[in-house]
Amino acid sequence: MPEFTTVAKVGDIPEGEGRAYAVNGRMVAVFFEKGTYHAIDDFCPHMGASMAGGFLEDGIVTCPWHAWRFKTCDGTWCDNPKISIDSFEVHVEGDEIRVYVPDKEASDAGTEGPNEG
Ligand code: FES
Repeated sequence: MPEFTTVAKVGDIPEGEGRAYAVNGRMVAVFFEKGTYHAIDDFCPHMGASMAGGFLEDGIVTCPWHAWRFKTCDGTWCDNPKISIDSFEVHVEGDEIRVYVPDKEASDAGTEGPNEG
């Protein structure tokens, strides 16, 4: 059974913005747009900028450094949809925003990485 971690209270993330939180050993960017929360890896795969500080519009966050764009719903890279960064389940329980970040080994399975092979 997945364990969700409380990262913030409802209202902590303003509409149209993101915030970064440390969850289960990694940084997660949680975005709030049009009444819905989404969470993706906070680490931009280009050069490591914090995605939480990016410009958010219509379900797409633009990296603040060099404008790579990712969908907040599933982490898909808009310029090459074959590639995506990790996305995480979010739910609201009472007034708490909760995120599920699987253990690193579990999330590595099935994703391509430099250490494979
Ligand atoms: S660090 Fe994100 S686009 Fe360059």
